[in-house]
This record gives sequence, C-alpha cells and structure tokens, in this order.
Amino acid sequence: MSKRFYLTTAIDYVNGAPHLGHAYEKVLADVIARSRRSMGQSVFFLTGLDEHGQKVQQAAQDQGKTPQEYCDGLAIQWQGLTTTLGLTNDDFVRTTQPRHRQVVQTILQRLHDTGHFYKSPYTGFYSVKEETFLTVKDRNPDGTWEPQWGKVVELVEENWYFRLGVHQQWLIEYIEANPGFIQPDYRRNEVLGFLRSQTLEDLCISRPVARLNWGIPLPFDPEYVTYVWFDALVNYYSVPAALGDPGAAAGAPAGTGAGPELWPADLHVIGKDILKFHAVYWPIMLKALGAALPKQLLVHGWWQKNGAKLSKSTGNVVDPFAVIAEWGLDAFRYYVVRELAIGPDGNWTDDGFRSRYNAELANGLGNLVNRALNMLTKYRGGVVPARSDKVFLTRTASTAEQVRTHLLGFDLQGALQEIWSLVTLANQYVEQTRPFSLAKDPTKALELDDVLYDLVEVCRVLAVLIWPFIPGTAEKIYAQLQVAGSPSDWSQVAWGGLTAGHQIGAPAPLFPRKDLAPAK
Ligand code: ME8
Ligand code: MG
Repeated sequence: MSKRFYLTTAIDYVNGAPHLGHAYEKVLADVIARSRRSMGQSVFFLTGLDEHGQKVQQAAQDQGKTPQEYCDGLAIQWQGLTTTLGLTNDDFVRTTQPRHRQVVQTILQRLHDTGHFYKSPYTGFYSVKEETFLTVKDRNPDGTWEPQWGKVVELVEENWYFRLGVHQQWLIEYIEANPGFIQPDYRRNEVLGFLRSQTLEDLCISRPVARLNWGIPLPFDPEYVTYVWFDALVNYYSVPAALGDPGAAAGAPAGTGAGPELWPADLHVIGKDILKFHAVYWPIMLKALGAALPKQLLVHGWWQKNGAKLSKSTGNVVDPFAVIAEWGLDAFRYYVVRELAIGPDGNWTDDGFRSRYNAELANGLGNLVNRALNMLTKYRGGVVPARSDKVFLTRTASTAEQVRTHLLGFDLQGALQEIWSLVTLANQYVEQTRPFSLAKDPTKALELDDVLYDLVEVCRVLAVLIWPFIPGTAEKIYAQLQVAGSPSDWSQVAWGGLTAGHQIGAPAPLFPRKDLAPAK
C-alpha cells in the first residue's frame, strides 16, 4: 500500500448547532477530497467533533445533562450535517471516543517520560469563557477586560506545563524553509512575525479536576485533565494511530501498524482564528513526540452576514440546513466556494446568493444543459450525431488543464471561474450558431449536426469538471445524457466521450428558476 492523501478539517465544538462557517470549511475540504479522488489519488478525509472542555461542560450543565448525554445528543445533528452537505469523509472522530482518548494518553505519557513537562504553581487572571489565563497585555489600561474574555477571575493553581522555549528557533527556520507549510502567504507571515518578535511561553496542558472534570485524565497525575486544545489537536493523529497507520506509531497501541498509510497529514483545513494552535503548538507537539509534521495548513477566512458577525444572540445567522432545504445542496456548495477565495473574509447576503443562483446556475449552466439536450431531442430524436472536433476540442482540453492546476493548488474559486467561462462560451455559441434557424434549412443539416454534437459534448465535459464541487448536478447531467461511466472520473474529461448514434435520455431542468420569489 502507498500513502493516501490525508486531509482534515477543524473538529467543531459541540456547544451549539452548526452554522455557515462550519459548513463552509467542510465543503472546502470535501471539494478537495473529491477532486483528488477523481484524479485517481487515494484519499482519507477526516472530520469530527471536539467534545471536551469548559464550554461543553458549561453548556451541558445549563441543560441539566451530563456532558456525555449532551454531546451524544448534538453529535447526531452534527453527523447529520456531513450527510446534508454530501461530504465524502472517510471517518468521523469524536474526542470522547476511547480510540482517541487512548492515543492522547499514550502521547502525554511519552512526552512526560521524555521530560517535556513540568509542574508549577501559577497565579493569574483567567478567562472562563476562553479557558485561558490572561496576561497584563490582555488587560485594558483602566483595569477592565475586553468583552471577548467574558468573566475574568483571579486564580492560583498548580498545573502541568509543556516546555516550548527550546522549540522556537527550529520552528521559525522550518516555516522559513517551507513556504508552502502555511497558506495563504499572509497567514504564514503572521505566524513568522509572531514567532520572531515574541518569546514563546510554556503551554499549560492541564486543568485541575476540581475546576474542570470534562476532559481526558493525565495518565501521570489523576488530579488533572488535559487542556482541551492538547486533546483536540491530537485527533488528526489519533485516528491514523488507532487504525494502525505505521506512520503514526508514536501514539499507537502496541501491536498495530498494518493499517492504511496516512500520517503525516497532507492538509489541515482550518479557520484563521485557530492558526496559532495549528502553526505553533501542533508542530511542536509532534516534533517533541518524534512524529512527522503535517505538510500544509490551508487557512480560510470568516463569513459574516450582511456585514456583521454571525451571532445567535442577535439572530444574525445563516442556517446551512435551511438554505439547503430551500435551494438545494449544490446551490449552497456552489455559492460558498464561488463567492469566497480561501483566505479573505466573506460576507453572505441573501441577495448575493439569489443572484448567483439565477445568473450562474439557473441561467448559466442550467440553461445551457437544458437547451442542448432539448435541441438534440427535438431536431435529432435525442440521437447523438457524428463527432465534431472543430470548436471545443482544444478549448475543453485547456480548460480542464487550468481547472486541474487550480484544484491541485487549492484555488477552488479560480477553478469555478475557469469552468464558468466555458459555460458562458457555450451559451454564446448557441446565440452565434442559432441552431433553431439551422433546423429550418435542410441544406444546413450537417452544420446543425456539428453544433448539436458540440453542445451536448460540452455539457458532458462540464459534468466531469463540476463533479468535485456540485456532484449531484454532475450526476444528473450524466443521467440525462444516459452516458456510461461516472462524472467522478477525471479521465472522462477528454473530448469525444459521446459517440455517434448514442441515444440520450429525457432532459429535465437542473436548477428550478426562483426569480419570481420575493427576497426575504
Ligand atoms: O475552534 N466563518 O471549534 P469551533 C468561517 N474545536 N469559519 C468559521 C466561522 C465563520 N464565521 N466560525 C467558525 C474550534 N469557523 C475547535 C477546533 S481543531 C483541532 C479544534 C470555523 O467550532 C473555525 O475557524 O469554534 C474553525 O476552523 C471551525 O469553524 C470550528 O470552530
Ligand atoms: Mg471558535
């Protein structure tokens, strides 16, 4: 067996319902996973839930439930999201699973045995909401604390610390030597700026059971549970280890090692707010363990709605389940990937969504496919004419090559732009060639044959190109064309897949028009 392309998303906190930001990240990862599979690569795509910590313990308590009951209830909804989004994840990790807990404990013990931890008292200000001790730098000149920290209390406690100082220099050098490690570049520069200008403080990796018991116990000190971030980051490694990945042996139970080759991860897809955990703490944890580092962090921006932060308390939310129920899964997947490049922040507006739906999906791709198949049905009884190579053979090949390059470089928005310029071109081709006029003139029959072949074959090629993004639509196009094979196979992108004499099926609209519905 050879190494699989292993990609992950952040694992979401279960302290609420999924929103647009969570769904967005999972769709990005799914498009990447599907594109790689389509091109013949073997992929392992992991997503899941972060179930420990103060926030979850608090939320459970507020509902009068045990943390586990609380997590089990919400996990159903979150796992439902993977289905609703059409994700092709190969596993779903929950940090309360024994397979994960075991690996976290193995790793902790190993780092403890090799002298990476020490115990020390600490007095300081603590943000209950963010589960973190604050420094004087976090405090306003007038002694108050920013609202982001919530309630701030003074605490004295003994805790376990992870020595980070010795890791600062090699990490800087590593990030300098591996420009691809953190993408986009401005995120990489942010991390380098931070590492070059500030001394890394040791990381507190424990919480006293008296204050927080909803966590993984430290194997070497039962008075403590593991800090939630130390636990959560390990998910990327614990799943391979539990599956017996020989590359993740440093955390694996003894006697395994015949599983799939996954570690090191090829790609961690994460949001900008959790960059430091992934770009600083995680590589250091792995290095201390003697494990390989992940190859790349792909850092996306944050969505707002109508120019304001997504927030349940103000009702400024986008519920992915509701959008998908009203507009369909592919409309949602298309919009989030097309609207926002991976990196900057984005802004959801219902008008913007509606306008892309109408212009690009219904009138763009939907109209093209519907016209092409309807005309072939009307003028040729749905029978494919002889192959025609003059107009689109080279153009589809160059589009496919560009799209492939964008996909491999994780420029998903760029790939969609490239695909849609082909959609536009093909729609223009209908206007220019006027097949409805050609059909009235028997001397133009061969010309019409060529145009009809061009159009239906472009539709078939488009199905292959769009499959990673909007697989349901791609499959509908293949079904309507009654063509053998699947649009999930990139090799089918080559021109000429439809052969003379092939009978297509009945055309049906791909994106029902919604232009008449009033904006809500
Ligand atoms: O941070 N727009 O969980 P989380 C885009 N459990 N992305 C957003 C977003 C928004 N408005 N809001 C959140 C955690 N996200 C930890 C992760 S990983 C080992 C542990 C993204 O539920 C956010 O950036 O708060 C993160 O990548 C993911 O959703 C989960 O956020
Ligand atoms: Mg968060």
